[in-house]
Order: sequence, then structure tokens, then C-alpha cells
Amino acid sequence: MWIYINQLADFVGQKVTLKGWVANKRDSKGLAFVTMRDGTGFCQCVLAEEKLAASFEATKFLSQESSFIVSGLVVADEKQIGGFEIQADSFELVHESVDYPITPKEHGVDFLLERRHLWLRSKRQWAIMKIRNATIYAIHNFFQKKDFALMDSPIFTGSAAEGTTDLFKTDYFGQEAYLAQTGQLYGEAMAMAHGKIYTFGPTFRAEKSKTRRHLTEFWMIEPEMAFYDLDMDMDLIEDMLRSVVNEVIERCTPELQILERDIEALKSVNQVFPRISYDEAIAILTGKKEVNGKNAISLLESDLSTTKEKIEAIKAEIIEREIIVNDNVSKKGVKNFNRTLVGQLKAELKDLEEDERNIPQWIASAKNFEHGNDLGGSDETVLTRMFGCPIMVYNWPRKIKAFYMKRVEGNMDYVKGVDVLAPEGYGEIVGGSERETDLAFLLEQIHEEGLSQEDYEWYLDLRRFGSVPHSGFGLGLERLITWICKLKHIREAVPFPRTSQRLKP
Ligand code: 4AD
Ligand code: MG
Repeated sequence: MWIYINQLADFVGQKVTLKGWVANKRDSKGLAFVTMRDGTGFCQCVLAEEKLAASFEATKFLSQESSFIVSGLVVADEKQIGGFEIQADSFELVHESVDYPITPKEHGVDFLLERRHLWLRSKRQWAIMKIRNATIYAIHNFFQKKDFALMDSPIFTGSAAEGTTDLFKTDYFGQEAYLAQTGQLYGEAMAMAHGKIYTFGPTFRAEKSKTRRHLTEFWMIEPEMAFYDLDMDMDLIEDMLRSVVNEVIERCTPELQILERDIEALKSVNQVFPRISYDEAIAILTGKKEVNGKNAISLLESDLSTTKEKIEAIKAEIIEREIIVNDNVSKKGVKNFNRTLVGQLKAELKDLEEDERNIPQWIASAKNFEHGNDLGGSDETVLTRMFGCPIMVYNWPRKIKAFYMKRVEGNMDYVKGVDVLAPEGYGEIVGGSERETDLAFLLEQIHEEGLSQEDYEWYLDLRRFGSVPHSGFGLGLERLITWICKLKHIREAVPFPRTSQRLKP
């Protein structure tokens, strides 16, 4: 019977058939140990000449990524990857893969991105996509349990919502159209029909910036709720992140282990998220306000000296181990062990040296931060460094936020927006706000931004017919996955990334 690797536990002691690809192969006399991957997991298949007789000859075609079918007895074996082994009594080569370009040795990221269609098969990438799948499922789970209706907003749109600078223009039968930067304005209309809705769709921004956090095409989840104010909005965000991350930890423990993710850092979602106003955030960032007796600038300065100490220690260790690798006395196994370690240490060193270069710039940027500006990536890193969990920054200067945000009562230069910043240097993962309901003020904003009133008449109708206080937010799916998986770059959080640098494959 054909089963998948993740069903093996139910078939111990029985004969089954598995279909998949060669992830890895090791030969020894009369034996081939082949790790099969079938998309659900990994399993060692033992192909013995003794059992396979003449067909054993064909195991030599089982090169990396060749596809094959194997039948045999399922044996539980804790030492094996996945905990089981197949003792094959027959196998069939489906297709021989010759000279697979991605080998177990290290490849540069550009090389891998050019071959993204194949790279997706490798273990780390597979684990990330499993986590992406679980994250999407957990998000739907959360909103569906809370009775939110999933509604879809259009992708071709006739108007901007998040500023006009990063719009992708297309020719829509001779008329100018844009790819959606957000579904929010439509979400507001749908919330007036259904009370609580969420959209889940692709979003497009012509971001030229080459950062680790920006894609030109990303997926956004945008709930919108009638009769919610900013505090209720923040409660919902916190509730959602906690629920989604906990569900992913529970469902994806093996995948998080493949990524060597520190799960404790993710469990920080179970702490109460500190809510700090923009003004407080700036005071903390510039070192004028302390958090639990800690000062941002001095904390960074001590981070810098720890980094320098670590760099010296690692450099010394590399020298010591390289001596073993190159001497004439150590055994082959010992040399190999040390060689692998040197590789790991060098990667660690590279990261630390990057920190050593970055931290002084972060300090400078934090010290010189001008009140009224938007937080930059490094400012977010510095700020979240002060807390070990996600934080929410609310009440932002009106000038740096979108036209639809509601003004703060009694302080008209501020709006009721919120950004959620993830810890460990990941920065903004959610942006939301209470929406402005004052028709006259919205009109003023639309004119101030140089937008055409005609394009927004339908949106303004929402303030003309049964207008209610309402709020919502946008969660960047890939930003969340990047943090959950602790990726260095957002491009690994989506199957086929689109950035200003990349459109293919
Ligand atoms: O903060 P943003 O721009 O907010 C909105 O679009 C609102 N209309 C959302 C709402 O209130 N309904 O974007 C929301 C989130 C960001 O916090 C970030 O996680 C993600 O979308 N995001 C990006 N992710 C990847 N690449 C980009 N270029 C992104 N731009 C925004
Ligand atoms: Mg934002």
C-alpha cells in the first residue's frame, strides 16, 4: 500500500510502499542507505543486495534528487531521521536526476535564488514552507473561530491608499490602474456590511529599497471591525499573534528544530505586549527614558563590547582548530569534526562582525533621532532590544501616517495608529489604526495628499450612510514568518520571492 512518510508510525511491522526523491545516499558493501523525502518527511531506506538480488545493480542510479518508489518493511528506529526505517524488498527508479545543481556543499544565496524552483526541495526551505502553511492555517483558524467573515478585496484598483510613491501602475484597457497596496479601504466597506471581516491576499508595493524586510509582492491579512476603537484593535492584534504563534509552535516543533529556532524566544508572545506611545518610544530610543532601569544607548554600548569580546574569542578558537585540521597527527574523524566546526565558527564570526559594524551606526541613529520622523529599521531594532517580546507603538505623528487614520482627541497632530514591532531585530510586522470618520477632515486629507476626490467618493459614502467608529490592521505574512523562523532575509519566507532585484524564476 502506498503511504506517506508522515504516516509511518501507523504501519510499524507492516509492508508499505513509499514514493519520493533521493535526499541523500550512502553506499557500503552490498548496501545502499538512501534517505527518501516525499514532501511529508524524511525516511531512511535500506537497500540490500542480499534482498534485492539483480535489481540492486540499479541503486547506482539513485543520485541526489532521483525519483524512486520503494516497498518494504517498516521498522521503528529512534536513531533514524523521523524515527523509522524501510527495509526494502523492491525498488523502482522513476527518473534519474543527473548532475543536480544544488549539492550538500555551501552555495551562495544568488546561486540558490536563481534555482529557487529546485532550492524549495532542500530541507531548510521545506521546513520554512511547512511553517508558512501552518501559519496561514492558524490565522484562518483564529479569525474563523471569532466569527470574522473572510472577504476578498480587488487586486486591480483605481486609487491609492498607502501613499502614491510605491504604486505599481498597469494599463487597464487604456485606463490607469494600480495593483493593490492594501485591501483596507474595501475592507472598511465590507465591515459595514458584515461587522467583522478579514481579507487575506497578495499586496504589491514598488519598493526599490533593498532591505531584508521588503518584498514587492507580499501577502497581507487585514481584519476590519465596526465599532472597534484603537484599544480594542490592539487587544485583537495581541490575541491573534499569541494564538497564531502558539499554534505554529505546537504544530511545527520538528520544522522549528530543523531551523534550530530557539522556541523560548517565540514564547515571548505569551507576555503582555508593552503598549508605548510614539513619544515614549522616542524618549526610550534616544536614551532619555529608561525601561526597567535600562538605558537604550548604554545597553547598545555594552552589546558592542560583548560583541567585540566574542569576536576575539571566536578568532582564537578558529586558529586552534585550524591547527588540528592541518596537523600530521590527528585522526581523519577528528580533523573532519574540527573542519565542520571551523565552518560554523566562521559563519558566526561573519554575523558578529556585521553587528560590530552596525551597532555604532544604530547608536548614532538613535541618539540623533528627530522627533516627528518615522522609525527606521535600526531604530526598531534598538527599541525592541529593550523588551524581550513584541511591543506596540501607538499614537503617531499625523504627518508620517496614512490619510485615513483618526486623529487623537485633543492632540490633532497625532493619529490613532499602531505598529507592532517583533523582537530580535525583526521590527514592524503589523500596522493598524482606528479610522477617521469625520467626512470634512477626510476630504481635507485627500486634497492635501493630492488624491482625486472623485476616486474616493465610494469610500466617503461609508461616512455618509451609517458611519460608525471602526478599526483594523494589516499583518504582513512574510514578516511574521521571517520572525517565527528567524530568517536573515524575508525572501526565504515566500515560495517565489519578488523583490526590486528579482522577478525570476
Ligand atoms: O503598515 P502597512 O503599510 O499598513 C497598511 O497597509 C494598512 N492598510 C493595514 C491596515 O490597517 N489594514 O502594512 C501592513 C503590514 C506591515 O506592518 C508589514 O508587516 C507588511 O504589511 N508590509 C510588508 N511586508 C513585506 N514587504 C513589504 N514591502 C511590506 N510593506 C508592508
Ligand atoms: Mg506600516
